[in-house]
Amino acid sequence: MKAKTLAILRRAMLPLDGTIADWVPEIVDAYARIVPEARWHDLAMIDFTAGSCLMPTVFAARGVRRLAVNDFAPRSHLAAQFLFGGPKIDPARVASLLATARPSLHPHVPTFHFACDYLIEPVCAVFDRLYHARVPAAERAGLQYLAVRWALGFARSVEDGFEILYSHDPAQLKRLRDPDWRPYLARARRPATVVGQLVRDLNAAIDTVGPAKAKLFCADMKDVAPQIKFKAPLFAAVNPPTRGLDEYTIDDQLVHSLMANRWLPLSQTPETPLAFWTRRVDAALRHLPSGSHYMVWGGDGSMSFEACRAVWDLYGVARHLKRLSSDPQAPGWAIYESH
Ligand SMILES: C[S@@+](CC[C@H](N)C(=O)[O-])C[C@H]1O[C@@H](n2cnc3c(N)ncnc32)[C@H](O)[C@@H]1O
Repeated sequence: MKAKTLAILRRAMLPLDGTIADWVPEIVDAYARIVPEARWHDLAMIDFTAGSCLMPTVFAARGVRRLAVNDFAPRSHLAAQFLFGGPKIDPARVASLLATARPSLHPHVPTFHFACDYLIEPVCAVFDRLYHARVPAAERAGLQYLAVRWALGFARSVEDGFEILYSHDPAQLKRLRDPDWRPYLARARRPATVVGQLVRDLNAAIDTVGPAKAKLFCADMKDVAPQIKFKAPLFAAVNPPTRGLDEYTIDDQLVHSLMANRWLPLSQTPETPLAFWTRRVDAALRHLPSGSHYMVWGGDGSMSFEACRAVWDLYGVARHLKRLSSDPQAPGWAIYESH
């Protein structure tokens, strides 16, 4: 895939801690060596744990027209609703929402009322103007994904997440050095510029993804798998959390609270990370038609790569294996052909 095309899709993907986005080009190229791209016109692709949504957008940009995109998390489902359905975001609409003194918004609790430990008031105001805008239904996914991307940009980094604001006085924040709030404050001062660039990035991805038809799900993959009626040739991405769900619940608390328009309490899954992973991988792989291919990842969580492999081997034959280093503890990924 051309680096320019990949860069467009990476700029539009959902930033996510724990994503395997950096390996997506290599994974898709490895699959193209197993099933030549010339045969992809009747290929179906399902991503059971889409996360950043990069992998399904890459397949769509390379000509795959039948996709199913699932993730348990509303933040990824929203990204998929925009990236696989559009329409493009209207820059004039965005400019007016940001500039109008009192834009027409759906009734909502001001986001600053519950997100003020992480987002200063001006940032929340821009989020509300985009996320709660009273616009035709077709425009909502684009504006809401744009709002989410605006807010996520105030995280210290994807890995570190959001810093707590011990003050809302810009002068005091500016004097602090660790963390350094200056990039945060600079971004907050330029909403039209930052949001304008995001609009261009997101719209460019719509052109790149093209007319792919994607069935979207926002459910536990163990419940989605039985519903998928795709026939081979089929490529399935199966990449549930390897350290359990709880770390995602914590990482996603702010973004999901912004989307729910209230502060969401944390929760813990009753399953052990091992049980969580094994049940999901089993549910996905047991429903795949014979001769399809599945991409799996493991070894960086509650199970070693070899232990993960013992589960993957039950459903197919490895056609490509890649460990991230020669370290016996190293995680890795694989592409299997199902029995
Ligand atoms: C390791 S991440 C990888 C995501 C994606 N492959 C990527 O690279 O961006 C795991 C993803 O699985 C999702 N997830 C967690 N539990 C799930 C479940 N039971 N069913 C579907 N998705 C789930 C999380 O929300 C997260 O987006």
